[in-house]
Amino acid sequence: MIENPFVPANQIKSQAPSVAVVGTTTVQLQKSGTYARGRFVVRSSEIASSKMGPYLKLTLTDRFGETNATCWKGASLQAQLVTGTVVEIARLQVDDWGPKFEVADLRVLGPNEFRPEEFVKSLSAEQVHAYWEEFHGFLDSIRNPHLQALRKKIWGDAAVAEKYKWHTSAVGQHHNYRGGNLQHVCGIMRVVEAVCAGYAELDRDLVIFGAAIHDLGKLREYEVATTISVTDEGRLKGHLVIGAEWVSRLAADLRVEGHAFPARLEEDLVHMVLSHHGKGEWGSPKPPATPEAMLLHLADMADSQTKKFLQEVENNAGNAEGWVRKFDPDIRETRWIRTRRDEPA
Ligand SMILES: [Fe+2]
Ligand SMILES: [Fe+2]
Repeated sequence: MIENPFVPANQIKSQAPSVAVVGTTTVQLQKSGTYARGRFVVRSSEIASSKMGPYLKLTLTDRFGETNATCWKGASLQAQLVTGTVVEIARLQVDDWGPKFEVADLRVLGPNEFRPEEFVKSLSAEQVHAYWEEFHGFLDSIRNPHLQALRKKIWGDAAVAEKYKWHTSAVGQHHNYRGGNLQHVCGIMRVVEAVCAGYAELDRDLVIFGAAIHDLGKLREYEVATTISVTDEGRLKGHLVIGAEWVSRLAADLRVEGHAFPARLEEDLVHMVLSHHGKGEWGSPKPPATPEAMLLHLADMADSQTKKFLQEVENNAGNAEGWVRKFDPDIRETRWIRTRRDEPA
């Protein structure tokens, strides 16, 4: 992981006023309580009112999470704090009401004063490199020449390949960090490989390639800058439709270039992309209609749901209860997740 020189936003949120924040160079402590200096991205800003008059309420993020912060005399700052603005707060003091700061302590950073990546959680270059090798190892094993031709069309484009390597798989939920998309795809490839080993009737090439392209549309559904956000195209179409259109267009391009890309293969690939969420309420226009599409859907679920639970465990490591209870949009129910991994004393 990239070194973090700042106090994670989610840690600031959880600090009681008299608790010292330690372990980072930019944190400064005062006798009266904890305070920190940090750089954050504004996720939202609004003017709220109290008996004392209007005040500023911010939601700030960094690559570890988010925190709220209040500035009692800061209403006039709100106009310049649009979503995505990067700010440095010289002194963010934590009291019973949560983090707060003075007007003079906030500075909006110019574009040359930060790297957008510093605010988004990321796998390390070594981790991404290892997943990239694994990913291409799986693709190398595909014998179908049409799929190899399509592979060249997609990842032969250096800009697409670089984006694919470092893209996120989500805004929230699972694998929501740089490199998450590739990690997720490799996780699915391992699952489908194991299942294919037991069923010779499955078209292994198809299902391995399906894993590689199933979330291709996320490259255009999400934008990774100082925060991860959904693009207009993502809102209007979603990654299943974007991905299906993309694959069809490249198959058509191959035919224009003289490669007889089979219509049936295109149909199977497009179907796998469109059905990989499994059912309409989970975003698929059609449920899986082939064994390969069903396996891809289940492997996608296996990897994404397992990782979602693992991230809850990781994100709640300091939770003394050892449990979290939260609403899960995938099942539209509130569920308990046990986050404690060790045996209680
Ligand atoms: Fe998906
Ligand atoms: Fe997926």
